[in-house]
Amino acid sequence: MPTEISSHPATLEWIGGVEGKLRMIDQTLLPTEFKHIECETVEQVWEAIKMLRVRGAPAIGVAAAYGVCVGIQTVSGADEAALLGRLDEVCSYLSTSRPTAVNLFWALERMKTFAAGLAGNGVQEISAALLEEAHRVAEEDRQMCRAIGRHGSTLLNDGQGVLTHCNAGGLATSDYGTALAVFFAAAESGKTLHVYADETRPLLQGARLTAWELQQRGIDVTLICDSMAAQVMREGRVQAVVTGADRIAANGDAANKIGTYQVALAAHAHGIPFYVAAPSSTFDLSLASGDQIPIEERDPQEVTHGFGKQTAPEGIQVYNPAFDVTPAKLIKALICEHGVIEPVTPENVADMLKP
Ligand code: MRU
Repeated sequence: MPTEISSHPATLEWIGGVEGKLRMIDQTLLPTEFKHIECETVEQVWEAIKMLRVRGAPAIGVAAAYGVCVGIQTVSGADEAALLGRLDEVCSYLSTSRPTAVNLFWALERMKTFAAGLAGNGVQEISAALLEEAHRVAEEDRQMCRAIGRHGSTLLNDGQGVLTHCNAGGLATSDYGTALAVFFAAAESGKTLHVYADETRPLLQGARLTAWELQQRGIDVTLICDSMAAQVMREGRVQAVVTGADRIAANGDAANKIGTYQVALAAHAHGIPFYVAAPSSTFDLSLASGDQIPIEERDPQEVTHGFGKQTAPEGIQVYNPAFDVTPAKLIKALICEHGVIEPVTPENVADMLKP
């Protein structure tokens, strides 16, 4: 029987008109506290992205688009040059918040290009049009996620065990998610899946967010530690892996949350298909391969003092890359809003994404 997947509270929401503000779920507090924060300055949007109050590549892109609308509110009067100057400043500033998810840069570039096309229309009209453009970025993301779900769900069979890493759900997008959209769409088409969610050290997006989100939406889910994934595969509990991505290079190499690469290796060793689901806004065709994707390094305290408790000796050296790159050869297929890219070759990527 097809299941209706329950709707989810908005991850990001614009409140008001041109002088409005950006409201978002503070994801650092989940799953024990469900609270919103409101960003009325671009500094607050930057901090929210940096500290992962909003996170996940598509959601970061949407937050950045709305962040531009918040940032240009400081321009009063009718000086259009001042508005466009401020827009540049705001975009440069927001682009320093996090380096890996290309959706951030994609959204900022889109807002800048859009504004450039409006030159001569006056401050009020440009500001209003930019807000409309940010709404379009959010709405298109919603539509892309639905399409990803539709395409991806055809790859899964009723009764399968599936594994995912990090959170690529509604919390990481405008709504519905990318990897999780595949599970939601499969469930909606009547397939019963059992999801294994990796907890995703060090910031536990899998335990705190994916497990919560799947539970909220009525999907059968079991939480495992990252170190258990290979054993779970060996025991025959998993028949497919689906993850999201933060940036996909022209050859199909995909950057995603740290730990994804080792899951792909384990899946390969067990003959389990490994799928990556992401919208076209996550592809960076300017990079020939994943070697060129900038990998964010985060505060060592995330490893030594996870969630406030010290778990390593004082003064220990730490390396804390937030993402890794899974080579295209380990990816059975890429799923985007236009369809399924299989096999993953530079030609097939270019073909699927051609304008
Ligand atoms: O550091 P995060 O939580 O922003 O990392 C998020 C991920 O790695 C997601 O898997 C990715 O952005 C895809 S979200 C649809």
